[in-house]
Amino acid sequence: MVQTATAPSSAPTIRQTQLLIDNQWVDPVEGGSFETYNPATGEVIATVAAATSADVDKAVKSARKALEKGPWSNMSASERGRLMNKLADLVERNALELATLESFNCGKTISDSKGDLAGVVKTLRYYAGWADKVEGRTIPVDGNFLSYTLRQPVGVVGQIIPWNFPLLMLAWKWGPALACGNTIVMKPAEQTPLTALRVAELAVEAGFPAGVINILNGFGETAGAALVNHPDVDKIAFTGHVDTAKIIQRQAAETLKRTTFELGGKSPNVIFADADLEQAVAGAFHAIYFHGGQCCTAGSRLFVEDRIHQEFVERLAEKAKARNIGDPLNPSTEQGPQVSQEQLDKILHYVDLGKSQGAKLLTGGERFGDKGYFIEPTIFDNVQDDMAIAKDEIFGPVVSVLPFKGVEEVIERANNTSYGLAAAIWTKNIDKAHLFAKSVKAGTVWVNCYHIVDANTPFGGFKMSGQGRENGEAAIEHYTELKTVTVKLG
Ligand code: NAI
Ligand code: MG
Repeated sequence: MVQTATAPSSAPTIRQTQLLIDNQWVDPVEGGSFETYNPATGEVIATVAAATSADVDKAVKSARKALEKGPWSNMSASERGRLMNKLADLVERNALELATLESFNCGKTISDSKGDLAGVVKTLRYYAGWADKVEGRTIPVDGNFLSYTLRQPVGVVGQIIPWNFPLLMLAWKWGPALACGNTIVMKPAEQTPLTALRVAELAVEAGFPAGVINILNGFGETAGAALVNHPDVDKIAFTGHVDTAKIIQRQAAETLKRTTFELGGKSPNVIFADADLEQAVAGAFHAIYFHGGQCCTAGSRLFVEDRIHQEFVERLAEKAKARNIGDPLNPSTEQGPQVSQEQLDKILHYVDLGKSQGAKLLTGGERFGDKGYFIEPTIFDNVQDDMAIAKDEIFGPVVSVLPFKGVEEVIERANNTSYGLAAAIWTKNIDKAHLFAKSVKAGTVWVNCYHIVDANTPFGGFKMSGQGRENGEAAIEHYTELKTVTVKLG
C-alpha cells in the first residue's frame, strides 16, 4: 500500500493510497482524494484516498460484523493479547521505516520519531498484557442471589486522531480498544495520513480478522463527521482542538455516543529560585520546544520566580539561539518544520499579537528559511496573564515568560486558565512541590521533570483539556460497558 525506503536519510516513495475496509484495500466510493505534503519542503508527496460517508458506512458495517460474529467475537482474551504482541513485534521490526515515514510526513525529527515508535511498541505490549486481565467482580447483595459484573466491549469505536503524534496517538487508541475486544474505524489526520496505513498493513499481516481495524483517511468535516453521526458507532475517541470536540460532543448527543476527548492545553511550568537551575533551564527548554511546541502538554506558560528571572531567561535565550533547525531526517537536527502552512500562519499571527500587546520579544519570532514551514524558537518575556499569548494554545515554539514572587500567587495564576492538561514545578522544597501538585488543576503534574508520559499511567485533562483518560488501567473503563448479572440461587 505504502512503499518506503528503509534508509533514514532517503525520501520514501509512495504510491497513491487506498482505504482499509474489511481487511481489503479499496478505493473510496466517491473516488475523492487529496494531497499530502512534506512540511520540510512544502512539496506534495502522495495523493491520498479520501473517505466520505459512504465509505464510513461500509467500514462501520464491517466493524459491526466483526464485533458480533466470526473469529474476533469468539476469540479468547489471551489470543487477542497474542495478536497485539505480534503487531508490536512487527512494528518494532519495521520501526526505522515507520519513523522515517513519520518524519517525512509530519516533520518531526527522526530522533523524535524513533522515540514515538518506541512508545507505540510499548503501548501495544502494555495493552496486550491487559487483554486477559479485564475482570468483573462478585458483589454481595441482599437475598439469595449471586450478583457479578462483566466488562464487555463498548462496541464499534470511531477514533479520530491529530497530526502531531500520528502513530503514538494511533497506539494509545488501538491499545485499550483492542485489549477490550472492540472493533475500530479510525480516521487519521488529513495532514499525516500515511503511517497509519502502513501500520494497518502490519495489523493485517499480524492476523487481525477482517473488520477489526479499518482505516479511513479523509477530512474532519466529511469523514470525521460521518463517523460521529453514524448510528451504529458506539463511541468516539478524539484527540485534537477543543472547538472540534465541542462540535463532536453536540453531534454525538443525537445518538448518545460515549465520548472521550484529549484536547489542548496552556500548561504552566513553574520554576522556583531553589531549583537546580541547570536542569530547570534544560527542562523548560524541552517543555516548550519538544516537537516545535506541537504538543498538547507543551510548557507554554513559563512562570519564573523573580529572583532568578533575569539569569533564567538569558540562559534560555542562549539555548534557543543555538537550536539546530533543519531537515527532520538529518540525525543532528533538533527542530523540524511545523506541520503545515496553516499552523505556521497561526503561530506567526500569535507572534504579532504578542508584540502588539506589549510583551517583550527576547529572541526568535520569524519564519526560518524560505522553504517549508520552519519557525525560530521564540521567547516572549514580561508577559501579562491577560495577553493572548498567555491564554491561547499557540501550538508552536513560542513560550511566554511570566515572572512571579510566591507559591500561593503562582498556584492561583497557574490555575487561571480554561485548560488543565499538565503542569510542572521545579524546586528542591518538597512542601512547595506537594502543595503545587495537590492544588494545580491538571491531569498530569511533573516535579523536576517534563513530558514524562508512559503507557502505564493515566493521561488526560481537567476542565476544557478533555474528558476521560487514556493510558493505564483508566482507559480500560472507557473501552468497556459494565454489565451486572444477578442469578437467583436455590
Ligand atoms: P482538529 O481538531 O481540527 O483536527 C484533529 C482531528 O479531528 C483531525 O483528524 C480532523 O480531521 C478531525 N476533525 C476536524 N473537524 C472535525 C469534525 N467536525 N468532526 C470530526 N472530526 C473532525 O485540529 P487541527 O485543525 O488539525 O489543529 C488546530 C489546532 O488544534 C492546533 O493549532 C492545536 O492548537 C490544536 N490541536 C491539539 C492537539 C492535541 O494534541 N491536543 C492535536 C492537534 C491540534
Ligand atoms: Mg481543524
